[in-house]
Amino acid sequence: MNTRILPVSADDPDSAAVRLAADALRTGRLVAFPTETVYGLGANALDAEAVSSIFTAKARPASDPIIVHIDQVSDLSVVAVDVPLLAAELAARFWPGPLTLVLRRSQRVPPVVSAGMATVAVRMPAHPIARALIRLAGVPVAAPSANRFARPSATTAAHVLEDLGGRVDFILDGGPATIGLESTILDLTRATPTVLRPGAVTLEMLRAVIPDVQLVARYLQPDQDGIEAPGMLLRHYSPRAELRLFAGELARVIPAMRQAARDAAAVGRRVGLLVPAAEREDFSDLPAVVRLLGDDLETISHQLFDQMRALDRDGADIILMHGLEQRGLGLALWDRLVRAANGQVIWCEAEESGV
Ligand code: TXA
Ligand code: MG
Repeated sequence: MNTRILPVSADDPDSAAVRLAADALRTGRLVAFPTETVYGLGANALDAEAVSSIFTAKARPASDPIIVHIDQVSDLSVVAVDVPLLAAELAARFWPGPLTLVLRRSQRVPPVVSAGMATVAVRMPAHPIARALIRLAGVPVAAPSANRFARPSATTAAHVLEDLGGRVDFILDGGPATIGLESTILDLTRATPTVLRPGAVTLEMLRAVIPDVQLVARYLQPDQDGIEAPGMLLRHYSPRAELRLFAGELARVIPAMRQAARDAAAVGRRVGLLVPAAEREDFSDLPAVVRLLGDDLETISHQLFDQMRALDRDGADIILMHGLEQRGLGLALWDRLVRAANGQVIWCEAEESGV
């Protein structure tokens, strides 16, 4: 298959390129498109065969369900049934935007979309190109992140091409995704609404609407069994290089990372460091490739997957990074880092006083 990249401006989302892509979607083909979170690999959600081809293109296990994207709230009734009032309230507050709701699946959505489960995950994205594409296609669009399975999500058209070139008909290039981390997933089919994946609609924001909202923090107990949602497997979002994640007090974390960098380099490993820009001087003298991430949570999230991929291209064998605060968007960042690190966190605790 020949992959065509079509540049599109967010100021002119109804362009001929988007109409061409919408026609392709309607006829069962695959289109990668930008959203405000990450790029999606889209297919007509009502066409089981088209959705199956997503799994093939991504090398994604059939047990991992896919999010359905809609363009207007009224389309919820096409893809879901028994929609609770709370869903309408959340939609009014957070849609269009980076929030995905898990609801009961309508018969019109083929089981393959949801890996055979009775539920369906639904989101109305905010990106003008995504919205125009869905509207012009006239069908709900099933779309996982447009990366090969378990790789860092694609946040640019170049990432999509890197992972899926020759496996997708069209890539709409609308520039880098602004948020850079995937949407928050909130399950409304349980007795208590539960966040399955933290994202840019933060736990704090959800708590203002749902005081008892819960979080399934799988990454906090990586050894416990019982997978909460198919596809929530631990190792995910991973660069090819091994990612080693440090946590704790910065005054201890930085020396520990410096030592780890020297130790790895001493045994011939190519070391990559992923650090906030303000820490450049702390690491600049090491035998390592240092890539900078900006300094606030928004910028770090926006750049994370791009810089992970860049370190892979640099040929890094091991990447060292430290965590940041676990509040707000920081919780989403922490979730992706722990999973990219396969659950291995090196805690650099403060020494106990009086010892
Ligand atoms: O921001 C996003 O959500 C992006 C853009 C393209 O919208 N999409 C995305 O899709 O991240 P994906 O497939 O990479 O991740 C979706 C996750 C999967 O890990 C899957 O387990 C979960 O959503 N999911 C999908 N349907 C579900 C369902 N019915 N119940 C529980 N989890 C579900
Ligand atoms: Mg994904």
